[in-house]
Amino acid sequence: MGVPPAEPLHLRRSGTSLLIDFSTGEPAMLHFGADLGPALPDLSLLGDAVPHSALDIPVTLGLIPQASSGWRGRPGLRGHRNGQAFSARLRVVGVEQAEAGSAVITQADAEAGVTVRTEVRINDGGLLQLRHRLHNDGADPYSLDELAAVLPVGRAATEVLDLTGRWCRESHPQRLPLHQGTWVRSGRHGRTGHDAPLLLAAGTAGFGNRHGQVWAVHLGWSGNHESFVDAVADGRTVIGASELLGAGEIVLAPDTGYETPWLFAAYSAAGLDGISDAFYAWFRGRPHHPGSRSGKARPVTLNVWEAVYFDHRLPVLLELAESAAGLGVERYVLDDGWFRGRRNDTAGLGDWYVDEERWPGGLAPLVDAVTGHGMEFGLWVEPEMISEDSDLARAHPDWIAGPATHATPGLPGSNGRLPERWRHQQVLDLVNPDAWQYVFGRLDALLREYRISYLKWDQNRDLTEMGHAGRPSVHDQTLAVYRLLDELRKAHPGVEIESCSSGGGRVDLGILERTDRIWASDCNDALERQTIQRWTGLVVPPELVGSHVGPTTSHTTARTHDLSFRAVTAMFGHFGLEWDVRHLAGSERTELAAVIALFKEYRPLLHSGRMVRADEPDPSLRLHGVVSHDGAEALFALVSVATSYAEFPGRICLPGLLPDAAYRVEALYPAAEDRRAFLQTEHPAWLAGGVDATGRFLAESGLPMPVLNPEHGLLLAVRRATADTPAATGGHAVRNS
Ligand code: DGJ
Repeated sequence: MGVPPAEPLHLRRSGTSLLIDFSTGEPAMLHFGADLGPALPDLSLLGDAVPHSALDIPVTLGLIPQASSGWRGRPGLRGHRNGQAFSARLRVVGVEQAEAGSAVITQADAEAGVTVRTEVRINDGGLLQLRHRLHNDGADPYSLDELAAVLPVGRAATEVLDLTGRWCRESHPQRLPLHQGTWVRSGRHGRTGHDAPLLLAAGTAGFGNRHGQVWAVHLGWSGNHESFVDAVADGRTVIGASELLGAGEIVLAPDTGYETPWLFAAYSAAGLDGISDAFYAWFRGRPHHPGSRSGKARPVTLNVWEAVYFDHRLPVLLELAESAAGLGVERYVLDDGWFRGRRNDTAGLGDWYVDEERWPGGLAPLVDAVTGHGMEFGLWVEPEMISEDSDLARAHPDWIAGPATHATPGLPGSNGRLPERWRHQQVLDLVNPDAWQYVFGRLDALLREYRISYLKWDQNRDLTEMGHAGRPSVHDQTLAVYRLLDELRKAHPGVEIESCSSGGGRVDLGILERTDRIWASDCNDALERQTIQRWTGLVVPPELVGSHVGPTTSHTTARTHDLSFRAVTAMFGHFGLEWDVRHLAGSERTELAAVIALFKEYRPLLHSGRMVRADEPDPSLRLHGVVSHDGAEALFALVSVATSYAEFPGRICLPGLLPDAAYRVEALYPAAEDRRAFLQTEHPAWLAGGVDATGRFLAESGLPMPVLNPEHGLLLAVRRATADTPAATGGHAVRNS
């Protein structure tokens, strides 16, 4: 065993500190939260009290909490060697601090035969990343049941918030008091899941969008997972997450290892907006982050799914392309239905060849027309799946993943049991190198043959009973999918990829490391999207969240919404259309074209600024916006989601601006005279021509707002007055009445 380092590890960045002491020989997690400053007291004097009827030593909360130190909360490591060596006693053998803000801590237990190497860093912007790698040093196999990443939570935390959902209703928040015990969110979908927490947060009583202390975690993993808050009887609370491993899923041969997914964590003293700041800074700091950083604005997209579904007819699709180009669309995506045998969702998955009957000339006539209009061409694929009714399944029945212990489960009627079908489909076993190579080869060939700039990569079922050669294989399948994406990106670096999973069934930082946006939901109903996008946006910045203006009457809820509400909603994301725009009436088409122009004008701001969400007390109203980092401009949306208890909204605060700067605020869209959006005798006077006010006034006193009809929104443009332009204005209002 090595000698523990004398000095504690204190990582400090962007207002956040992580303090780890080594004086017991174990990395003791003393603090994760507000920056403690450079001067520390003598930590050897700060060991906890030893109570009656307890272990005779102060119990350490280790980097990997372990029973051998007396930890009786959720253990950080569970593993064994055929029932032996079940309790490790990990001790520090090395600490390397590579650069300010990051370190590698190595712990080992020679007797148990395991070494764990932990990488931890706090990024610019304050997002912490932590992962472990466990190595089997022993001479026989080591079965790993769990290796968790945890962090301490301040005693002030009394409430928990996380997200849940279902298909077409992703990312809805739920809150509960933090009591003693463990709050665990388990995901057993084999994918991230529509109900995944996305963010698990603990905070001070009533913490809100812009107030209260918050500690939050997210696991960057697209397979099975658990996130938890563990409030232990000794009074301490930890927050963390781990991959949820199947029975016997990870058995490490001698001299092999297992790496956990990254745990991402943030602390904020200013509510959930501070957590979003940390995540957004991390995303936007990546060299390959799409959008402003790459210098290429996110193209306005038209996806044909809700316009034509499986009804692929070239003349219609060409007309749609022409119509979209005329509106200002920049990317055209051909969705499901183009490949062999795919007339509906019961057949064809796996046969990634253009359907010769429907597309006798291949995709070229459409690709040429789309690119000829100056738009990018995108194509839908679902590479991880296989239809039982497909040439691929008929040729390789053993490529269908399932629980069977023999190598060839076969089709129904043969001798292997398959998992229950989901959307009539099965999962392709990508752990099988031949299956992986086949899919890679087909996608690579398509990308070489056609000018495809974008793949909408779908994944439409849970991985139930996911197995390879009789063993659970969600872990290996997830890594195989990652490798497929990585290799395709390497081979086709210019191609962007969208991650879709029946909408938002796979939204996590693991998939987002190798894709360029997520499809937040199959629900294009603007009212539902207000919640879905707001809470997805807690972690994922708007430039990565696909948000489309759907048909007037939503296909998934049958609600009808004006164009203005659909557009104001889609504006705060990666904007697009999912609508048959060929036959729009004149004024609606003009309005839509103006909305697209408006989005393009505000796109640089929307895709780079800070997300701001007011703590609006009226539950029928929401106020969110994006403020540029220099505080020079902002775009806010006031949204009415229901009828209000109040006769009129009164003064609504616009937070997040520079307090002492002077601003001009203008109502942008819909026009004040739009009778569908507003119901009142008279607007507040400022609505006609704008108003000048300081950031402090706007944040603390606010502006009187018009009476919005329910399920309507109003865009507000805010610009800082400069010496030259005392009441600088910009932006062109969309006339729609
Ligand atoms: C599910 C996706 O979420 C939809 O947008 C669409 O692409 C369909 N799959 C196509 O099958």
